[in-house]
Amino acid sequence: SEELIILGIETSCDETSASVVRGGREILSNVVSSQIESHKRFGGVVPEIASRHHVEQVTYIIEEALREAEVTMDDVDAVAVTEGPGLVGALLVGVNAAKALAFAKSKPLIGVHHIAGHIYANHLVEELTFPLLSLVVSGGHTELVYMDEHGKYEILGETRDDAVGEAYDKVARTVGLPYPGGPHIDRLAHEGEATIDLPRAWLEADSFDFSFSGLKSAVINTLHNAKQRGEDVPVKTIAASFQASVIDVLVTKTMRAVEKRGVDRLVLAGGVAANKGLRARITEVCEERGITLTIPPLSLCTDNAAMIAAAGAVMYEKGQFADDRLNGQPGLEL
Ligand code: KG4
Ligand code: ZN
Repeated sequence: SEELIILGIETSCDETSASVVRGGREILSNVVSSQIESHKRFGGVVPEIASRHHVEQVTYIIEEALREAEVTMDDVDAVAVTEGPGLVGALLVGVNAAKALAFAKSKPLIGVHHIAGHIYANHLVEELTFPLLSLVVSGGHTELVYMDEHGKYEILGETRDDAVGEAYDKVARTVGLPYPGGPHIDRLAHEGEATIDLPRAWLEADSFDFSFSGLKSAVINTLHNAKQRGEDVPVKTIAASFQASVIDVLVTKTMRAVEKRGVDRLVLAGGVAANKGLRARITEVCEERGITLTIPPLSLCTDNAAMIAAAGAVMYEKGQFADDRLNGQPGLEL
């Protein structure tokens, strides 16, 4: 159905977003209102502030998405909304807005998993082919997901503690960089040399799980010990060494999974997919091995509703609809 029109809504964290996607892959609009400025002075996302922003913004953002796409609710075939995981108060704003619209206009309602959305950001760029592997790296998630058809997800590995973006943000905070720290560490990493030998958490030999809290602690200890000795470690050296460890583990484990599952298609997803070092390294390795790689543009890597509409379109085709019991689920499983 080329002409399927989905309205997507995303409010799981600190971006209020609405989007209209046609035929599952064509973005007619993708309006994103970021709250980063409001959270910056607290050094992270404050759930209460996030919810309040979503409440203030959501109606306007939806109206703007429809206006930009030059459609009305009459043209919309279904409303897809992030059901979870995320901040419960934030999720509820999107879910309730979607429910209100869907029932007022007698449209089907679809509850989308946020990670499915991140993966489907790639479908907006390059049609997904199966089987594939997806590395999802964001502020809240670090997951290796295997797919052999649309809408079916198998988690091969995930973080046992901090998400990779969270580790970036914590290390950034330790060295006095503003929130969100990921982009700052990335920039500084390219100016410095990875001369500090930081740990790599390989875990069990056959594990595709990740762990980043030990790495974060190692950075803190390194800084502490240097200070006691009266030495000064340049931030760019810390950034480069930290980033080298993260990329080494992410890329090595991803390639092991690619080999084990025998896939030749890899997609990257989530805010940390914006990382220049990660993009460069994974592109290089995929070229060496003849693996087709898709990385969404920055605007589709970070939270947005187009990816939710794209994942929702697949659920529409499968007849996976929600009813009026749809609720925000902070710990929803993929
Ligand atoms: O996907 P996203 O926008 O929100 C979540 O669903 O979490 O990801 C945000 C995360 C933040 O932790 C941010 O520091 C990180 O992505 N990030 C980066 C870069 N750009 C954003 N981390 C490393 N390098 C970057 N260039
Ligand atoms: Zn996200």
